[in-house]
Parts: sequence; C-alpha cells; structure tokens
Amino acid sequence: MSNSISSKAERLSEIKEECLKCQKCPLAKTRTNLVFGKGDPEAKLMFIGEAPGEQEDLSGLPFVGAAGKLLDKYLGFIGLTSDDVYIANILKCRPPKNRDPLPEEEDACIDHLRAQTAVISPRIIVCLGRIAAMRIIKSDFRITKEHGLWFKKGNYMIMAVYHPAALLRDPQRKEEMLMDFRKIEAALESISDSE
Ligand code: URA
Repeated sequence: MSNSISSKAERLSEIKEECLKCQKCPLAKTRTNLVFGKGDPEAKLMFIGEAPGEQEDLSGLPFVGAAGKLLDKYLGFIGLTSDDVYIANILKCRPPKNRDPLPEEEDACIDHLRAQTAVISPRIIVCLGRIAAMRIIKSDFRITKEHGLWFKKGNYMIMAVYHPAALLRDPQRKEEMLMDFRKIEAALESISDSE
C-alpha cells in the first residue's frame, strides 16, 4: 500500500515537472506559479475546476480563495476535508484577470490533466462548474439542467455541480448544491461497500 502511495506521488511529481517546462500556451509567461493540484494521490474522489484565480496563482494551490473556502464547507457537510480528495483544474496557469479559458489554452493543457487523472485513477470525478463540465462531460453541457446527474466515462462516474464561485454570486443555489453533495456521499459509500 505505502509503495503504491509513493509511486503515485512520484508519478505526479514527474508530470508536474513536465508542466513546469510546458510553453504550449502564453499563460506560462504571465502566471506567477503553476497550480498543479493538491490532495491525496490515492483519492477515490477528484474535483476538477476551471483555472487558477488570483489567490491560487499567488499560492500555487487550487481552490484556496473564497470559492475554495466554500468548497471546503461542502466537503465538510459530507464528512471530508480537502486532504481526503484530489483537486485540480482544466488549466494549470491563471488566465489574466480571471477571464474564461480559451479553447486553445484548454487544448494545450488537457493532456497534463489526462495524465494526472490517469495516475490518481479516482472512481468519481466531480466537475466544478460549466467550463469543466463542457470540457470533461460534453460540449453542450447545461449546468442548470444537468448538475447532479451521473455520467459514465470509462471507469469513471462523473457529475458536475455548480462552481462554488457561482454560489457566492447566487446563494439560492446552495440547497441544490447540498443535494448534489449528498449524491456524491452516497456514491462514495456504495463504492466502499462494494470493496
Ligand atoms: N476557480 C477555479 O475554477 N479553480 C481554482 O483553483 C480557483 C477558483
């Protein structure tokens, strides 16, 4: 067991080294820090957000700003902390002024995320927000209609929930977010029951 933990961690740090060298898009020049990912390399549950914001760019860690604090709260509702899961983004470098990622930036970065996800090999992937859902689940994903629904891709069970930043703008969605997290909790329980 400890062998497999260290080898996943080692493989992740190799991928991180590749990301540090990556110059496939101009964001490598404007970022402060690469935001590779954080959490448990052995996690069964992986969250994928959009791109680093200002706090993430400064710290080099995903979801440490206001949206991250809200994500931590929802993890807490289902008895988890950010150390129990793995969290990454579609883009590893911050787009200037937090604009949406450009399709060519996503195209340039997605192989890093694919490699990272293959190493972690989670059972459940949760997309945080529309942009991640459109890239990971399907290009015409409708977050208001399709959040909380399960999709199956290969070995992964995938769901999208609202982006925590969207909840900060529209607190009326908090109840739906909690219901989606309860579904994630139930899926995790059924996975551990079957193991
Ligand atoms: N929003 C994201 O999508 N990712 C982060 O890491 C922070 C905010």
